Amino acid sequence: MVGEFSVEDYKKAVGSFVTGITVVTAASDEGPVGFTCQSFTSLSLDPPTILISLARTSRTFSTIAMRQKFCVNILGTDSARIARDFAFMDPSIRFTTHSWMSRESGNPVLNAALVWLDCELVQSIEVEDHLIAIGRVVAVGQVDHVNEPLAYFRGNFGGFIQLRDT
Ligand SMILES: Cc1cc2nc3c(=O)[nH]c(=O)nc-3n(C[C@H](O)[C@H](O)[C@H](O)COP(=O)(O)O)c2cc1C
Repeated sequence: MVGEFSVEDYKKAVGSFVTGITVVTAASDEGPVGFTCQSFTSLSLDPPTILISLARTSRTFSTIAMRQKFCVNILGTDSARIARDFAFMDPSIRFTTHSWMSRESGNPVLNAALVWLDCELVQSIEVEDHLIAIGRVVAVGQVDHVNEPLAYFRGNFGGFIQLRDT
């Protein structure tokens, strides 16, 4: 128990907030690195900044800190497999299993991404067992074909349903 609720209660509570799913990537000397990340939020418009939160144990963060840049790949409903693989698969084969290309910035972009945002790291803040990384968005790309966004709710992947008459 933590206070008056258990860890499971807490996970269920915060997991009730539906999010989209991204894969955050960066380029290390050994090749591309990246991980599945739901804690992506748009932060400011002028200048455009975003934030992500990473566990201190994230292997990707050391590359982001060293290179001072990263890319946020927003996934569609056809990419639930990618979301699982970039969370649970051995990091050394994540990028050999899923196709990607290198941007001029050097950051890897997943070919399946619905939208990608190329970012420069402007600040990282240590908070408890996590780090908040704030990125300045320097380039944005989106695919032409229509694709539904991937959503995540209480441990399950799903899609977005637009309500009528609202
Ligand atoms: C749906 C989902 C969302 C996740 N979101 C985050 C997140 O926001 N921040 C984080 O640090 N890890 C998150 N993870 C866990 C990482 O993807 C996972 O620990 C990954 O293996 C870390 O890779 P790395 O150590 O190579 O960076 C998430 C996992 C899943 C399945």
